[in-house]
Amino acid sequence: MTDWTTNSNEALTLSLVRAAEDKRVLGANESYEAFHPTFTYPIYGEDEKIYGYRDLVIDLRFASGSLAQYLSIRHAEKLGSSSTVDDVEGTLKEYIPPNYDTDETAFLARVEQDATAFKPTGTLIHSYTRPSPTPDTPPVEYEVYHATWQDPGFREYHQRMQLFILLYIEAGSYINDEEDGWEFVVLYEKRKREGAEGAVTYHFIGYSSLYNFYCFPEKVRMRLSQFVILPPYQRQGHGSELYTAIYTYVLSQPHISELTVEDPAEAFEDLRDRNDLRTLLAHARFMQEAFGEADVSHGGGRVQKVRGRGRAGEGGGKGKGKGKMGPPVDKAWAETWRRDLKIAGRQFQRLVEMLTLMHLD
Ligand code: ACO
Repeated sequence: MTDWTTNSNEALTLSLVRAAEDKRVLGANESYEAFHPTFTYPIYGEDEKIYGYRDLVIDLRFASGSLAQYLSIRHAEKLGSSSTVDDVEGTLKEYIPPNYDTDETAFLARVEQDATAFKPTGTLIHSYTRPSPTPDTPPVEYEVYHATWQDPGFREYHQRMQLFILLYIEAGSYINDEEDGWEFVVLYEKRKREGAEGAVTYHFIGYSSLYNFYCFPEKVRMRLSQFVILPPYQRQGHGSELYTAIYTYVLSQPHISELTVEDPAEAFEDLRDRNDLRTLLAHARFMQEAFGEADVSHGGGRVQKVRGRGRAGEGGGKGKGKGKMGPPVDKAWAETWRRDLKIAGRQFQRLVEMLTLMHLD
């Protein structure tokens, strides 16, 4: 008997398509095509099942930088004219902008054109480099852009990228793009092109949306609301770089009082803890005041343990002075640092606890 039910997470196949020349220089382990969503329940329903097809493929491709879209729905067989057969395209259509291509040749031409024409919108706020995965080619650069609805073309760009929130964040939903107060940071890979001097291409990696809350009397509190790094780029430190870009931006803006996070997923909480701890461990004055002596290391991008004890007269203390971290922690001192570092209250408390444990270890 034919099974007419398809898992929508498996059927939906996503690709970030690069121009032919940009594909040619990719390293052996680099693949940005044919990956799958984690969730499709916001689109295809709680059970994440589509009824009425055999060998269903929902081929949704994005131009790697501009995120121009192409949609092709293919199947080996479709159940006859039953009213119970799901409308695959009609359902997905409600979540993506209407101007997607359905003609593959037209889409590939668009990819080639956008590879040189597309430039990120907004203001560059952070950049970093990594060695190229391809031998004898220059390092790969990464850039983070800050944008708002005021940046020309950004609203349309956001309409193309917001699908990733539904597909990768549990309980994620679309924001109201009529509402002011939203700010965005978008991360791109930037690669030099062979041939034309100075030619580069940008490839979308992920983004975060932030919301400004008024904070009495004249400041705003920045709430990180959504944060996604696409699967081909996950677990390579890009999320940490994007988070660092946001935190550094918050620190640099006198009108922003602190950075808070809305409903963090576990993996994000881990990312945040590691990066916040790294910030504190690298802050010589904070560590000096906290433990009486800064004796920390943080090599290789990984948080390592605080060595030695800061308390005079105790085993291993080696005569170091007693720091404000105690225990018990000096609360007024901690609050002053929390405000200076613009870290949210509960998060700072967690960090203090973690640092104390690491230090006692
Ligand atoms: N499970 C557990 N911990 C994780 C995971 C994971 N899947 N991914 C990252 N981390 C933690 C680890 O501690 C990691 O350090 P390690 O690699 O040394 O173990 C640390 O985060 C930093 O990892 P990065 O490589 O910098 O993180 P990455 O670029 O992979 O981004 C993120 C992590 C944002 C969670 C990404 O996997 C993602 O977008 N996932 C899907 C969407 C999502 O869950 N977003 C967060 C929702 S919460 C919110 O929006 C407020």
